[in-house]
This record gives sequence, structure tokens and C-alpha cells, in this order.
Amino acid sequence: MNIIFFGPPGAGKGTQADVIKECLGIPAISTGAMIRDAIKNNTPMGLAAKEATSKGALVPDEVVIGIVKERLQYDDCKKGFILDGFPRTIPQAEALEAMGVGIDAVVSFEISDDTIVERMSGRRVCAACGATYHTVYNPSKDGAHCDNCGTELTIRKDDDPAVVKSRLTTYHAETEPLIDFYDKRGKLRKVNAVGSLEAVSARTKTALGI
Ligand code: AP5
Repeated sequence: MNIIFFGPPGAGKGTQADVIKECLGIPAISTGAMIRDAIKNNTPMGLAAKEATSKGALVPDEVVIGIVKERLQYDDCKKGFILDGFPRTIPQAEALEAMGVGIDAVVSFEISDDTIVERMSGRRVCAACGATYHTVYNPSKDGAHCDNCGTELTIRKDDDPAVVKSRLTTYHAETEPLIDFYDKRGKLRKVNAVGSLEAVSARTKTALGI
């Protein structure tokens, strides 16, 4: 099954992608995580992306389209995949179609801006393995270290409140038009993203028919 997880920053796309990838035995591909890795490793792509992500803006389409095109050619995508955070603009969605990649479902996680701001203030991440936690809703066992690898948890640079505001503005202006794009193609499945992690997982599975 080829799936897109769509929604504003902090809607829970990454959290739910981790659940659904295990259910379906397919990879979850996060463009945000790939970009953060590139920034950490000072690759040419990372250097080009650093300024945009720190301001809450999008990385240029041609850069992101290139990394997704390459990633989808890996063998582990043959049985399907979850795209988490791509496409984010109409040109990215058109590029995906031009690659001849068929999409079975676009899950749109619905949540208000106010709830997002509250969620982002409590997000903690493991810079080593990429696991995501929340101080209240999904804490690690000791509240300070990653349950998977023991690394100290940190706050993502772009979770600074001013950057979150800017990411939301970017989302409404550049990404939200994709709702209509995929609705017209009969692919859109709306999921209420408010509630416990388990409740949202159950709704996501229902939306996907799994
Ligand atoms: P990216 O990493 O994709 O960020 P995002 O889309 O803004 O999404 P997030 O990772 O912030 O949130 P999420 O929806 O995955 O929520 P999560 O599960 O973590 O992108 C970062 C940047 O890279 C972008 O700003 C852009 O610059 C660039 N970029 C990436 N893709 C690009 C593209 N295609 N084109 C151009 N640029 C691109 O959950 C959030 C928090 O809430 C966590 O703490 C979690 O534990 C908690 N939580 C989750 N579910 C619940 C729940 N049900 N109840 C309570 N808390 C919950």
C-alpha cells in the first residue's frame, strides 16, 4: 500500500507512521528526518536546507523531490511505503505523479493550530535514533532519556514557539491546497488527530481499512 501522511506540523504524522509501518511491514519515509540528518552531517543538501528549516520555511521543491525520487527506488519500497511530510506543495505532488508513483490513500490528520502549539511545546526527541516523545502525552520512561537507546532527549530547534508559528503559516499557505488536490483524485481520508495516541491509531487504521 502506498500511503501519504498529510497534516500540519505536530499533527502526529511521525508518531502514527511509526505505528502503521509496523502493521503493514513497510517503511515510513520522513523528508523532515532526512533533511535533519543532512544538516547534522553538513552535506551540500544539508547546508542548502539549514536556513529554510530554521525559519520555518520549506526547503526548495527540486531538492526534496530529488531525495524522495531516490529513496523510493530502494528495494524496501516495493511492497509499499508511507510518505511522512511529502508532498508539501502542488509542484511536489505533481512531481510524484510524474514519477509514475501510484498513491492508494492520503491520510489527512485534522487538528487546530492552538492544539498544535500546545503539543509542540512538550515534544522531546532523540537525536540519535529519531524517536519522538511528549512530556505529558507520551513521556519516555525516565522523562529525560530515550527508551530505545538511552540518549538524552532534546528539543528540536524548529520547535521554538516563533518558528512553530512560522511553520503553521507556511503550512496554511503552501501545503493546505493539497487537501483539494487529493480530494479531487478521490484519495483523501480525513482523520481526527485529537485524542490519545491509541485512539488516533485506531482511527487511522479504520481510514486505511486495515
Ligand atoms: P518535518 O520533520 O516533516 O516536520 P513537520 O511536518 O512540521 O511535522 P513534525 O515532525 O513537526 O510533526 P508530526 O506531525 O510528525 O508530529 P509528531 O508525531 O512528531 O519537517 C521539518 C522541516 O523540514 C519543515 O519545516 C521543512 O522546512 C522541511 N521539510 C520537510 N519536508 C519537506 C518537504 N516535503 N518540502 C519542503 N520542506 C520540507 O507529534 C508531535 C508531538 O505531539 C510529539 O511530541 C508527540 O509525542 C505528540 N503527539 C503525537 N500524537 C499525539 C496525540 N494523539 N495526543 C497528544 N500528543 C501527541
